[in-house]
Amino acid sequence: MKRRDVLKVAGIAVAAVAVGAQATEVTPAMNRMEMKPENAEKPTGFELKHLPQITVKDKDAKGYTNVEITIGQGGIIHPSTPDHWIDFISLYADDKLVGRSTLEAEISRGVAVFAVKLDNVKTLTSKAGCNLHGIWTASVTL
Ligand SMILES: [Fe+2]
Repeated sequence: MKRRDVLKVAGIAVAAVAVGAQATEVTPAMNRMEMKPENAEKPTGFELKHLPQITVKDKDAKGYTNVEITIGQGGIIHPSTPDHWIDFISLYADDKLVGRSTLEAEISRGVAVFAVKLDNVKTLTSKAGCNLHGIWTASVTL
């Protein structure tokens, strides 16, 4: 390969990197640390604000039960501002993932509803991600 051919190949590679860089979205840093209350028997207000509240609602004619998850517990609602929000909520039926809802800052707050077949399910577990304060988990036994 001649020197000029190498430069042509290098030029194509640089162009490909530049296009790739333009297509990449800039996402804010997310705290992905797994969190839990210091004292599970007596969570603080800050901890309650991040814990998923799981509410099992009505079952429809097709056998799906609506499970509503709101963040957080005890009537303390997590904020949703441009710099601080719940960015996802996921639900597990026993160990099986039911779904994951991705949420945007400010325009939505930490609420998700999943229609779930609960036959033989013993435990529902929800995980919620706060961009600043990590991932919080709560479960209910059915
Ligand atoms: Fe938070």
